[in-house]
Amino acid sequence: MSEGRLVGRTALITGAADGIGEGMARRFAKEGAAVLVVDFDAQKGTATAQTLLAMGAQSAFFQCDVTEKDQVQAAVADCVARFGSIDVLVNNAYRGTGASRVETKSDAVFADCMDMCLYAAKWSMEAAFPHMRARHWGRIINIASLNGVNAHMGTAEYNAGKEALRAYTRTAAREWAGYGVCANIICPAAATASYRRFKEMEPEVAAATAAANPMGRMGDPEEDVAPVALFLASEDARYLTGNTLYVDGGGHINGVPWVPDLGPDS
Ligand SMILES: NC(=O)c1ccc[n+]([C@@H]2O[C@H](COP(=O)([O-])OP(=O)(O)OC[C@H]3O[C@@H](n4cnc5c(N)ncnc54)[C@H](O)[C@@H]3O)[C@@H](O)[C@H]2O)c1
Repeated sequence: MSEGRLVGRTALITGAADGIGEGMARRFAKEGAAVLVVDFDAQKGTATAQTLLAMGAQSAFFQCDVTEKDQVQAAVADCVARFGSIDVLVNNAYRGTGASRVETKSDAVFADCMDMCLYAAKWSMEAAFPHMRARHWGRIINIASLNGVNAHMGTAEYNAGKEALRAYTRTAAREWAGYGVCANIICPAAATASYRRFKEMEPEVAAATAAANPMGRMGDPEEDVAPVALFLASEDARYLTGNTLYVDGGGHINGVPWVPDLGPDS
């Protein structure tokens, strides 16, 4: 591809087999980036990479469970070996851990979620930073959640993990700004498979959430969320770092009525 805002750039996107990650992968590829699709779902991940190849982009799938440090490090190494660099790193992969009361959350549930939300990004950022520093150019985009910002009920481990990720990202933004590396956060709202599962489990909360959104709908991964990630990944965002962008149709302005039924008090 000879045209586009990411021509000559390489990107690693975790959780790119589906949902928002897939939307970003498609959009980045359309804009000329070489994209490493990283996910633990080999079937869907391979299909995503094949779609990008069919679009004329450079792409490959790398199977990786982001809760495993050596696999995350191997994914970054594969991106550099395959494409020659890692210019854009998107930490997006996530699988739900279920809603329950704060006092019922086990250490194991917390640890697993911290690995997924915080440590996965820590490991990939540590691995990518030397390569970004060497080229004096890098973009890190970490996907957090309004759940954490607004302390939604039932998801204490997720809220804590995503807020830790925001703090970590902002710290890296300060320390790495002098090396040409920008690090920002997106809190999205999009109608993905995980949202559809939530809608099945909590139809009333989901309906109230969509109704409370100023734009009256959940976003589309590729058409609503990915363009903002593209901007953050591009040269246009070179003076923007340490920010949280709410790509949610304005849902954050008044919050969302997230009150799931957590059952009786224990
Ligand atoms: N959809 C929303 O409205 C919304 C709202 C707030 C935050 N988010 C955040 O956006 C991101 C993407 O969410 P989504 O709705 O697109 O999710 P999704 O479930 O549609 O897709 C997540 C992808 O991550 C992969 N994945 C899950 N666990 C993994 C692991 N351990 N290792 C590697 N890959 C793994 C899955 O296979 C899948 O391809 C997540 O970080 C989520 O917390 C989404």
